[in-house]
Amino acid sequence: MKPSPVQVRILGLAVGLAFLLPGQARQDLETREIMQHKLQHAQFILRGIALQDWTAIQSNANQLVKLSQMAGWQARQTPEYALFSLEFRRHAENLSKAAKSKNIDAATLAYTQLTFSCVSCHKHLRGDSTAPKG
Ligand code: HEC
Repeated sequence: MKPSPVQVRILGLAVGLAFLLPGQARQDLETREIMQHKLQHAQFILRGIALQDWTAIQSNANQLVKLSQMAGWQARQTPEYALFSLEFRRHAENLSKAAKSKNIDAATLAYTQLTFSCVSCHKHLRGDSTAPKG
């Protein structure tokens, strides 16, 4: 028997809900996915800088900005984490601007600063008190 459109809709809703219900697990997965994508975009940016591929630098930097604004990015609720996130986003925005104006030195500098912000936040996550504060 072919399911009626209503049955299909109910099924769709049930599947959708099942996906949403284990809120915590879903949130964790989202964070992991975001963090993995973050690495890929950063790698593509380095490739873009090496090859002066402005389009690649700009689009990957913009993706990093977007990722840093997602709910799943907020893996910790500390003021430091918020500051590191802000810093990270600022460097990604600078990268995007540098690519737009085809300024390789500015792009390289922003990429280096972005990399420092990766390390600072990860140090903070590991509870390293030598991590620079803000
Ligand atoms: C504002 C904080 C913050 C910044 C900045 C940051 N990360 Fe992360 N990163 C995290 C968190 C949170 C996790 C998840 C691990 C955890 O919860 O302990 C993570 C995990 C990762 C992982 C492991 C992902 C996996 O496979 O599970 C990689 C790789 C990574 N980050 C790379 C980077 C790179 C590269 C940058 C810079 C371009 C960066 N991170 C910047 C917070 C940050």
